[in-house]
Amino acid sequence: MRPSRKKNKDGILTKIKDFRKYGSYWKGDAMKGYVCKICSFISINGSAPEKCPVCGAPKAAFEEKEEAVKTPNDSNNLTELEKKHIPVITVVRKCGLIPEGCTDVHVKMGEIQHPMEAKHYIMHIDFYIDKELISRIMLTPDKLNPAGALHIKAKGGRLTVIELCNLHGAWIKETDL
Ligand SMILES: [Fe+2]
Repeated sequence: MRPSRKKNKDGILTKIKDFRKYGSYWKGDAMKGYVCKICSFISINGSAPEKCPVCGAPKAAFEEKEEAVKTPNDSNNLTELEKKHIPVITVVRKCGLIPEGCTDVHVKMGEIQHPMEAKHYIMHIDFYIDKELISRIMLTPDKLNPAGALHIKAKGGRLTVIELCNLHGAWIKETDL
């Protein structure tokens, strides 16, 4: 029993240390959002929803945060941390699965591949069109790569992708569909 308790305690301490370290070396910018305290969904349309589109939590569960989502300081000169976390989006106009009326969106984290280990991994990827959530892909570290894909029916719009790293927070990338 004792070694197991010690291991858990060490794990928590390690996480806190990493968070402190991260807070001191991340020099990028951030975007405001309303964050669900239950499931970490981030509303980016300027207000908290009446009901969380992911977990159904009420508006009162949302917290306004000035630094809800991380963005790079200089998108032409990304740091290593930014290269590991900012989603890389590939839009494939012709879908191989649904030949008519489908646009594939492939996302990976990131330009440098992010780890997928129990201690450090990408927890989920949220997709938005015109600032409204269209899908969340949940990721587990053991058997999945830090990536996800959707088959989109919409003919256009602004696609936003926000991923959540368990240690380094939420990161955003946008593109036109
Ligand atoms: Fe990370």
